[in-house]
Amino acid sequence: MEWREVYNVGIEPIDGQHKRLVHTITRLQTALACGDINQELANALRFLVDYAREHFAEEERLMREIGFDGQERHRELHRKFAAQVTLLLVSLRQGKRVDPGALLDFLTDWVDRHIRCEDKKIGRWMTTKGS
Ligand SMILES: [Fe+2]
Repeated sequence: MEWREVYNVGIEPIDGQHKRLVHTITRLQTALACGDINQELANALRFLVDYAREHFAEEERLMREIGFDGQERHRELHRKFAAQVTLLLVSLRQGKRVDPGALLDFLTDWVDRHIRCEDKKIGRWMTTKGS
């Protein structure tokens, strides 16, 4: 997956953190294509669980600070993402099979819809409210 201009929210360090997510997706795609997925899947899921905790906390702090409309809904989307990646990490640790293709679909959809559409609203809110 390539980083695209349209993913830029216009807020650092949020954009930098989003780029790390896209980088993780790219690594997973490469590992899957090259038949090297097992270790990378475990690494990616560990990263994603930490990422969800730290990055979402930062976004949510920012939303509170600027009085962003629709915070509750946005936080709910974060909670669903965090619950999903946590469930997959737990499943993997229990020795269950985690489908890397389904994880990749979930993550690319997240970038394309959550970052491109939802997170972008935070950037626009900051611009229009002049914070
Ligand atoms: Fe978000």
